[in-house]
Amino acid sequence: MTTLSTTFLGQTFASPLFNASGVRCFDKDELNSLLASASGSLVTKSCTREARTGNPEPRYVATPLGSINSMGLPNKGYGYYLDYAKAHDYSKKPLFMSVAGLSLDDNIAMVAAIRDAALPAIVELNLSCPNVPGKPQIAYDFDAMDRMLAAVSAEYDRPFGVKMPPYFDIAHFDLAAEVLNRYPAVAFITCINSVGNALVIDIEREEVVIKPKDGFGGLGGDYVLPTALANVNAFHRRCPEKRVIGCGGVRSGEHIFMHLLAGASLVQVGTALQEEGPGIFARLNAELAAILERKGYASIDEVRGRLKTL
Ligand code: FUM
Repeated sequence: MTTLSTTFLGQTFASPLFNASGVRCFDKDELNSLLASASGSLVTKSCTREARTGNPEPRYVATPLGSINSMGLPNKGYGYYLDYAKAHDYSKKPLFMSVAGLSLDDNIAMVAAIRDAALPAIVELNLSCPNVPGKPQIAYDFDAMDRMLAAVSAEYDRPFGVKMPPYFDIAHFDLAAEVLNRYPAVAFITCINSVGNALVIDIEREEVVIKPKDGFGGLGGDYVLPTALANVNAFHRRCPEKRVIGCGGVRSGEHIFMHLLAGASLVQVGTALQEEGPGIFARLNAELAAILERKGYASIDEVRGRLKTL
């Protein structure tokens, strides 16, 4: 019998699949739809200290190869998601809280409040939002990332994870991994956030397709699968004490299987979830189970990191 069940940070997940933060997780209604779906867990929208309306619309557009977005961290403020986490029934499925403070002090304040609530919620610290004008992605500045992780590790006395941007150079994989490996409290690495600051053009209108930042936004979907797999594998190899969560380009069981081979322990779904809705998780679970059965794997844990090189 094949099982999709796995354990992660001491909690049991019936499936490795859940939403990428930002996708269908803005408010209670959306979160409850994820709860009712066949996902193995759920993560809340990346929160800031205060609620934000985000960037002007249109700010998300689906394309034939995926999506581009510049949402600008619209969210209800961390208190809203913390209240949701306090009311959550953890026997149903584990819950992640994504935290994306606009400053180090904001992150400290938010993780301190989450710590004080003493919940089983798992923190994913977002170091990679590309869409807030004037706020560069922290994980592209290795000194800033080091300062952030030192401060959060000192304040938050539990294991947590980091949501990383894609890197495109071996030297950057090495440098980022070296910083992450300084912090044992960083228990997992989510790879990748959207491929930031891309430009999609409509040739009929001779125009960009989203309004913020003159049309520049983060790519998801088919555009990013190989980049996501490379980042998952790069950090799986370089950070053997940490787990990796794969995110990027997943819309089929085959894509999930690729993420697992590359080294992912859990897998998030972004653009495809946005387009297909929470019913996607039942389809993806069935497709993944069929692949595992066909290949004779009893569990996803047997697949993790088995990728062969030539
Ligand atoms: O713009 C956004 O809200 C996206 C956030 C992220 O990609 O982390």
